[in-house]
Amino acid sequence: MALIARVTVGPMALADVTAVHEIEQLSFSVPWPAHAFEQELRGNRLARYLVARAGGTVVGFAGTWLMVDDSHITTFGVHPEWRRQGIGRQLLLGIAELSIAIGARRMTLEVRETNEAAQRLYQSFGFEIVGRRPRYYTDDGEDALVMTTPELTDPVMGDRIAAERARLEA
Ligand SMILES: CC(C)(COP(=O)(O)OP(=O)(O)OC[C@H]1O[C@@H](n2cnc3c(N)ncnc32)[C@H](O)[C@@H]1OP(=O)(O)O)[C@@H](O)C(=O)NCCC(=O)NCCS
Repeated sequence: MALIARVTVGPMALADVTAVHEIEQLSFSVPWPAHAFEQELRGNRLARYLVARAGGTVVGFAGTWLMVDDSHITTFGVHPEWRRQGIGRQLLLGIAELSIAIGARRMTLEVRETNEAAQRLYQSFGFEIVGRRPRYYTDDGEDALVMTTPELTDPVMGDRIAAERARLEA
């Protein structure tokens, strides 16, 4: 996999919401409305959102909520024209480092059981399937798999995150 060096990951700003919402619409059958992102950025002190930029263009985004000591990934997408270039991996690394910085012990998320692309990405970061939420998705009744990481302080996770960072900066 060739990583694009010019892609950078940083905090999402209100000015990014239009571009983020476009990617959200291209990525999910039941997209969040744009105002949901605005509300998250303005009013949810537990939320953190990142964007990936290629030059000045937003090409992906990810968000998490710090719930007690669990960093719960809420949304995550890469523009279809930019997929399979390591941007999802770069965003997940950003969320992992942020989660450690804000004191989370684990990362968790729900993923469609048929979403193999996302599951593979998560598994490569150490996420494991720990549960199932039957008929979680309201549009088609698909089940969600619940995935979680080992403790972020576990040396295995530390080594994995450090290796991802080193690979990115190589
Ligand atoms: C899931 C998603 C964010 C991945 O983004 P991406 O930038 O394409 O991912 P990366 O290029 O960083 O891929 C990292 C790894 O994920 C896995 N992967 C990603 N896309 C894949 C695909 N289409 N098929 C199989 N594996 C895939 C691979 O293991 C890949 O590593 P490799 O390229 O070295 O084989 C992207 O496909 C997307 O936006 N999907 C729609 C929205 C979505 O499903 N979000 C997750 C909701 S839980």
